[in-house]
Amino acid sequence: MIPKPLVEQISRSSSSSLDTNSSFSEFDSVATTPPTSFTTSPSLGGTPDSMYHEFQDSLPVPFFPASLDQSERNGPQLPQYLPQLPNNVTPTEVAKQDLGTPDNWVNRNPELVRLTGKHPFNSEAPLGVLFEAGFLTPAHLHFVRNHGAVPQVNHEMAAKWTIRVYGLVEQEITFTLQELQERFPVVTLPVTLACAGNRRKEQNVVQKTLGFSWGAAGVSTALWTGVYLADILDYVKPIRRQAKYVVFEGGDNLPNGPYGTSQRLSWAANKDRGMLIAWAMNGLPLEPDHGFPVRVIVPGQIGGRSVKWLRHIEISDRESQHHLHFWDNKMLPTQVMPDQARAEKHWWYDPRYIITDLNVNSAIARPDHNEKLYIDKTSDIIASYPVRGYAYAGGGRRVTRVEISLDQGETWTLANIKYPEDLFREACHQDSVYGSLDLTERDTSFCWCFWTFDVSHDILASCDALMVRAMDESLGFQQRDMYWHALGMMNNWWFRVAIHKTVNDDGKIVLQFEHPTLAGTAPGGWMERMKVAGEDITKPVFGENGKDLRPRAPKPQSDDVCLTKPGVNRKITLEEFKAQNHQQPWFVVNGEVYDGTPFLKDHPGGGDSILLVAGEDASEDFFAIHSAEGKIKLAEYHIGTLVPSITQEKPIITHSDGSFLERSRWKCVRLCDIKQINHDSYLYRFALPEADQPLGLPVGQHVFVRLRRQDTGEMVQRAYTPVSQQGAVGFIDFLIKLYLPSALTPTGGKMTTGFHQLRLGDSVELKGPLGSFIWEGQSTALWKEVRMTVKEVGMICGGSGITPILQVLRSILQNTETETRVWLISANKTEQDILCREELDTLFATHGMERFKLHYTLSVMPGVWPYSVGRLNDVLLAEHMPRPSDHGLILVCGPDAMISHTVKPGLQNMGWDVEKSLVVF
Ligand code: MTE
Repeated sequence: MIPKPLVEQISRSSSSSLDTNSSFSEFDSVATTPPTSFTTSPSLGGTPDSMYHEFQDSLPVPFFPASLDQSERNGPQLPQYLPQLPNNVTPTEVAKQDLGTPDNWVNRNPELVRLTGKHPFNSEAPLGVLFEAGFLTPAHLHFVRNHGAVPQVNHEMAAKWTIRVYGLVEQEITFTLQELQERFPVVTLPVTLACAGNRRKEQNVVQKTLGFSWGAAGVSTALWTGVYLADILDYVKPIRRQAKYVVFEGGDNLPNGPYGTSQRLSWAANKDRGMLIAWAMNGLPLEPDHGFPVRVIVPGQIGGRSVKWLRHIEISDRESQHHLHFWDNKMLPTQVMPDQARAEKHWWYDPRYIITDLNVNSAIARPDHNEKLYIDKTSDIIASYPVRGYAYAGGGRRVTRVEISLDQGETWTLANIKYPEDLFREACHQDSVYGSLDLTERDTSFCWCFWTFDVSHDILASCDALMVRAMDESLGFQQRDMYWHALGMMNNWWFRVAIHKTVNDDGKIVLQFEHPTLAGTAPGGWMERMKVAGEDITKPVFGENGKDLRPRAPKPQSDDVCLTKPGVNRKITLEEFKAQNHQQPWFVVNGEVYDGTPFLKDHPGGGDSILLVAGEDASEDFFAIHSAEGKIKLAEYHIGTLVPSITQEKPIITHSDGSFLERSRWKCVRLCDIKQINHDSYLYRFALPEADQPLGLPVGQHVFVRLRRQDTGEMVQRAYTPVSQQGAVGFIDFLIKLYLPSALTPTGGKMTTGFHQLRLGDSVELKGPLGSFIWEGQSTALWKEVRMTVKEVGMICGGSGITPILQVLRSILQNTETETRVWLISANKTEQDILCREELDTLFATHGMERFKLHYTLSVMPGVWPYSVGRLNDVLLAEHMPRPSDHGLILVCGPDAMISHTVKPGLQNMGWDVEKSLVVF
């Protein structure tokens, strides 16, 4: 098949290319002066036509993967001014793990980290090993992403392998690989492939996604040889205006049909985008794991678009309909949880969430995880450490800057970037294996680049972390915060390496580096460590220096601004406040006292505006004028909290019946018990001052709870309905669903995060009762001060909205004399989210359908479930709520959107007058 001299050339190159690509720093030292003229193999003519004939026999010989046949082979050597080919160290044996699998014939590098157990094979090299391999990744270190078994293709099948091109074209055709080479110019491009899941392990540590745990080595670069897809399209002539997509299908056999995906025709037909139908990788036939005998290469896009074991190319008016074209490679909105994504098909079919181009990304490879650096303080030489790593971007965009931070993201410095891909732009190389390797007229950047940043040992020893971020030429940027989502793809927040400093027995300082995670199931990395320690890993703070930065980090915004100063606990009575000299003005904002004296000179509105409010409550004026900046400033002048004057202070118990609550006075209760109810809800019990003291809360009413956040010092308050039984004495129970800080809601719920910080013995304050509705019992309600007889009560609650509903429900059902009947719908996400289910079911079992119609609906499909699935809607309301009547009332408590978009219109459709009959808690 191939002229003898070329076979010799290939075998010669195997010995001479050894070690030339072993590391980027070595690559740096390679002669970089390209020849001034076009380089070409002596046997090749210069014109395209004559070239096709010369390439006729140009498939690498033998045309079979090196790992399966003559593993000693290497691709033909490249001229010295180009990045050198990696040494091909293909394994010659089947690894133990593959023996019992359908891939028991594929020879794989045992050094690769297996990410999905034995089968299918998904793997990446250890990051340090990949990085040291240099610009071109040898096949045995290239990451692999297989959805199923590798199609087994022998010599004979490879020779007969065909690709059918059909659909909306003027001439359908089926090519063998030989024919492809004969008909079209053979080209080679250096292309970086990156899996969309690269760095997903970091997302999985924050919260498990639907995908497995790629480290930061799900990215590799090779020379891919084949023909331009654009040339094939030109040949088959897509039918204008009808043809819109090019659909690729692989030869693998997966449970939901073959792997397939598509490209827009306009992209595929554009040679600038560089899409290839490729049969060789680094000058050798593709390895089975990489698509032998032929695959698609789509530069600049996620690896998932580069279909392996290519069988068909269909020109179509619609995108690929392959299962994995929809059910993979999506970046869903961050609020869609994995269970929800699994249950709700529409997310996957929404074209807005498809991933095509790679986003900009970078990682630190040196120092490696657990690498140690010994600092020699005795030497006069100022030693430095070259921090190094990779960066890449998508869509052919160049990485235009890489920045390093040594102070946890406060300041950044530019790193030095090398673009080995640019060396290919200097001159065109031609030979019978690579065809034309010509980037001289290309502006696209399809490869990773490498960056270096020298840090002196002294400075490194004073840092707690190294961080890197990159930007591309469209100013796409790596963000500080992680965009967590159910598939965990395209993770590109800043890459952070923690630094731990210890001093040896001999007095030497040792720095040890810690990467965020380790690929696959391997434990380790600062993310897991900090998570176990209960820290917020989405806003990591490293070491002592980080603690100083903490208050500076997230600047509170508008409403979230804390108006008090941490540590200020002084109580100031009204007398003391009023007696203050007005030339040293104290004023009150939201019950807190401020001393404006130090700010008189600098106040932008002049000192008079402060003197004018001396001795007064300035809350209204202050909020009317000041921005978030002004509010932050105010906290600096906080001196204490205004308390009622001693002479006016009322005794703790003022009610004649001795009940606890007071409408106009905050009163302390002490946390005495916490019980976990489900994955995110807790029962908090607070003791009243007296063990036999009634609470004093009518059924259907609420209390204000106020607490001071232990982290920010901020006072926060919300209305809650307790779940303690009516008539309970000496305590009050609150059922609280916690919304803690997470990747999705970085600040978490302000109040519930405060609850989470409470420890037994801590106090909160209560004030109440409040609310416009009271269930008085005996079929009587008092609503907006009007007393009414109620015989039918519909109740609708979303999630934790059960609490006020439950009070009324208990009261109605426990009173057996009345005939009032109740209908309840409890709407939740999953079965586990249903609060107070046991009690509801017991009430139902006790009182039966006659008095109590109970129904649940879940938005996420459970296994076996006798109630409804789906969000609340008109049909559910009509089926499970009472008909409108003169003695009917509907009570609702849940999210605003549920009430205004579903409940109100739904009840109106049933004929309810919501103004007169809908009580919203
Ligand atoms: N093509 C087929 N036929 N089957 C596959 O499972 N995986 C895709 C893509 N092409 C896949 C495929 C994915 S998700 C990626 S990231 C790349 O192949 C990985 O290519 P590699 O294994 O050669 O690195």
